[in-house]
Amino acid sequence: AVIKSVRFLKSAVDMQTLPPRLIEAAFVGRSNVGKSSLINMLCGKKRLALTSNTPGKTKMFNYFIANDQKEAHGRRFYLVDLPGVGFARVDSKTKDHWTQFTTDYFWERQSLKIVFHLIDSKIGIQKHDLELMDLVKETDIEEKYCVVLTKVDKLGNKRVHSQIIDGVLDALEEKALPLTTNIIPTSSEYKIGRDHIWKHMYRLMLS
Ligand code: GTP
Ligand code: MG
Repeated sequence: AVIKSVRFLKSAVDMQTLPPRLIEAAFVGRSNVGKSSLINMLCGKKRLALTSNTPGKTKMFNYFIANDQKEAHGRRFYLVDLPGVGFARVDSKTKDHWTQFTTDYFWERQSLKIVFHLIDSKIGIQKHDLELMDLVKETDIEEKYCVVLTKVDKLGNKRVHSQIIDGVLDALEEKALPLTTNIIPTSSEYKIGRDHIWKHMYRLMLS
């Protein structure tokens, strides 16, 4: 396993309050899409990141540090749970705080190795997702970018699934993002996709 231990480290509200640099993977996406649940599932913990039925649960950049114990042999890294806020592309003066922070973070955080963009497999691409793709393009982090479909346990049949994937591919094409972008199906409820995500992380972060 890549993770021997993991614990909450701190919350950040701007570039100045980020912890010292260490390789990190960020989990972004609409509110309620399942970011915090996915982090818990990946770490095999129920309440590491706080989840809620009510959108807007995660309010800051929450940093979790892996392998920070003396006896841990794995490499130390961060998992970062981002708030599910909008990324409307408005002029920089009126850009809201979180959009600006996320933009700066994508641009300037050199230790950021992966950005997992979570998309609800039942709902599919929403305006917020297109805005996030714009931000990925704008900040030139395509190489770090990966799509994660969440809550696949909610899907009744495979047809819906392929429609959603087509929707994601159309959006990638529209935003001129690589069509080779990884699209990983997951369910935090049923622990689907765990190995796939870890393999991907291992390749991008620990290589
Ligand atoms: P914010 O912090 O508000 O941005 O939301 P989030 O993206 O962190 O979502 P969170 O993990 O809190 O999950 C939102 C809701 O979706 C919770 O009620 C979860 O139980 C539910 N949920 C998350 N993952 C899954 C899943 O794989 N399957 C199902 N059925 N429900 C899920
Ligand atoms: Mg959350």
